[in-house]
Amino acid sequence: MLEYAKSGEGVMAKPKITICMGSSCFARGNEKTVEACESFLAARGLEDEVDVDLGASLCTGNCAEGPIVVVDGKTYKHVDPLVMRDILNAVFPEKG
Ligand code: FES
Repeated sequence: MLEYAKSGEGVMAKPKITICMGSSCFARGNEKTVEACESFLAARGLEDEVDVDLGASLCTGNCAEGPIVVVDGKTYKHVDPLVMRDILNAVFPEKG
């Protein structure tokens, strides 16, 4: 079971992943990053425990550094599917 809480709120909150689907990030490959994210979450059984936001967050003005992914307010630049998997592995380490 994923354990996660935002500090200071005392309330369990789902981690939030925002994948920019603005035209620049989309053209630079964020569609593939969405697929990588979805397959990672499915493989770990985390689909219902993470809030994945697509499309609602169109261009954030960081197009030149895209594709952009934001995880819990932290912005990641130049994200491709391999980088996405690294980010997700860091945020959701495999429990041994
Ligand atoms: S399209 Fe993603 S930051 Fe502009």
